[in-house]
Amino acid sequence: MNILDKFHHWRRRRRWNKQYRSGRWQNLKSDLEASRYFKIKEDLLAFAPKKPNILDIGCGDGVLNERLGDFPFSYFLGVDFSSESIKQAQDKNLPNSEFEHCDVLHFVPKRTFDAIIFNESFYYIPDTEKSRVLQHLLDNLSEDGVLIVSIFRDGPGCWEFFKENKNLKEVDFETIKTSKEMTYWKIGAYTKVSE
Ligand SMILES: C[S@@+](CC[C@H](N)C(=O)[O-])C[C@H]1O[C@@H](n2cnc3c(N)ncnc32)[C@H](O)[C@@H]1O
Repeated sequence: MNILDKFHHWRRRRRWNKQYRSGRWQNLKSDLEASRYFKIKEDLLAFAPKKPNILDIGCGDGVLNERLGDFPFSYFLGVDFSSESIKQAQDKNLPNSEFEHCDVLHFVPKRTFDAIIFNESFYYIPDTEKSRVLQHLLDNLSEDGVLIVSIFRDGPGCWEFFKENKNLKEVDFETIKTSKEMTYWKIGAYTKVSE
């Protein structure tokens, strides 16, 4: 990253902290948003191995984990670069789950994962880092694992990293619509192409 990108990245992290502190992201728990979390749960059921261990990148305060409800997983790790959101997630004491304060740009997984999820977080990764970060995470996705990506609206400059990736096969792609015309998400699920 050049110095300008580093500055924007730093500023963005500060903004997230401030917003989580002020409750700005409480709306993620609303009924309007619920359908995208349910779609992720559906993809986990369809494409992840049984009782997967799950890595949630940019997990915020752990809404996806809560929305998984009775979905059986063996372990859940949420990673976020906002210390405030991680503190809020940790305070929930969610079962079989840990939340780590870490920038995905510097995240080093200590294990492989059966499901890796970018739930409204991939577009925040600086463009020059997207490819490296994605590859690093894919190296830690188990061979029968699934990568799930949710992106608000059309995600310009994002989907090509998944759709044109020769190491990935798209197994599902759906637009999740809501009662509001301009509130929709695209959610893709990808498995690894075996070598
Ligand atoms: C729109 S919120 C989504 C939160 C959560 N995934 C959800 O959908 O409930 C985006 C999250 O990505 C996190 N994020 C952005 N850039 C990040 C980075 N480089 N490393 C880790 N987390 C990041 C933000 O702090 C924020 O919590």
